[in-house]
Amino acid sequence: MREINASIPFDKRMWRQDLAGSQAHVAMLGKQGIIPAEDAARISAGLDDVAAQFEADGVPDDLALEDIHMLAEARLADGIGPSAGRLHTARSRNDQVATDFRLWVRDAIDQAEAALGALQDALLTRAEEHADSVMPGFTHLQVAQPVTLGHHLMAYFEMFARDRSRLRDARARMNLCPLGSAALAGTGFNLDREATAAALGFDGPTRNSLDSVSDRDFAIEYLTCAAQTALHLSRLAEEFVIWASQPFGFVSLSDQWSTGSSIMPQKRNPDAAELVRGHSGRITGALVSLMITMKGLPLAYSKDMQDDKPPVFEAHDLLGLSIAAMTGMVESASFRLDRMRAAAETGFSTATDLADWLVREAGVPFREAHHITGRTVAAAEAAGIRLDQLDIAQLKAIDDRIDARVYDVLSVDASVSSRTSFGGTAPARVRESVAAARRAREEEGR
Ligand code: ARG
Repeated sequence: MREINASIPFDKRMWRQDLAGSQAHVAMLGKQGIIPAEDAARISAGLDDVAAQFEADGVPDDLALEDIHMLAEARLADGIGPSAGRLHTARSRNDQVATDFRLWVRDAIDQAEAALGALQDALLTRAEEHADSVMPGFTHLQVAQPVTLGHHLMAYFEMFARDRSRLRDARARMNLCPLGSAALAGTGFNLDREATAAALGFDGPTRNSLDSVSDRDFAIEYLTCAAQTALHLSRLAEEFVIWASQPFGFVSLSDQWSTGSSIMPQKRNPDAAELVRGHSGRITGALVSLMITMKGLPLAYSKDMQDDKPPVFEAHDLLGLSIAAMTGMVESASFRLDRMRAAAETGFSTATDLADWLVREAGVPFREAHHITGRTVAAAEAAGIRLDQLDIAQLKAIDDRIDARVYDVLSVDASVSSRTSFGGTAPARVRESVAAARRAREEEGR
């Protein structure tokens, strides 16, 4: 029973939040005259001592004391004697744990958001550096049209901007304080729930005591954000894995962010990127785990809910590592621009530019331009050359509306420079989007 019942081995991670919640509660009890002011002062000082002890020695896995709430109260009693018994007036572990866990998840959200900001800054730096660097853009992992590396990196900047905004939304929704809901029905004591909420940095108290002690949707929402972020990180990680492979050779990973092989001395493996990809599975698993834990529970508290913490803690740890690893890889990667350019020049990647030129300069309807371009690609393919290596006589033999001005759009540089639509890959557009993103990041800092 003791082993299945205890949560101390994992919920001790919430000791700071637990003591902070108790401090807010006892200050309110004293102020409201629910307990004598001297006892409130003694308890508060005692809680400070418990915090100092935990800070110095860690929190012991004392299974007999079951969880962090009982353990902290027992330590308080060791320190100050029987007046410790007044702390739990007008409170239950049900509203206590709901409060602690909200505080913990709120910190986790803030940490993830800040770390993603640093990853965004790394992407901005590299995107600016590579606003002009040409690489192949893919669909179906087949060379489609040339793009710039800066544009490609900025795509991830946008994903992480949405992830951060989702985290902020989740934070705003969860930032209400359950403390004072007691076991499930509220309490007859004359509490000041506004005061405890404010002391703990919440926007106010929660509105329904039954909901307060039994909802964990704030944790599920955090995990949803974490899973979505992990999914984005995993896609970026996968790009690095592909780019670092020899057939691609688009990137050399730094020694710091790669590993050797135990038997093949030449290897430089993208283990960190692979683990980021792997961790996204575990983080998504954490989300599914908590959703299934909660799905059949009637109101109000049931002990099943104690299982809410391990998945959240695990997801938080894995997410923090994943963000840090991708930040390091983005910062330190050397991009092999020659390889990227050569790949961008394969696959007749400027075929669309030829078709667009025929539409624009020769007034050809797009469908017909598409056919002419198809014949041009076939001719280049048969000759084993790129589109811009066909001479003008060869081009005119395919369609005599083509003239020498077409060479202005057939090179990969001309192609990317021409894509100036808002949100397009042209270097000028990429520089603009980097500058706008920088300004937005600076505003946030203010
Ligand atoms: N360790 C418990 C948990 O995390 C605290 C709440 C216990 N409440 C109760 N009614 N047994 O859920």
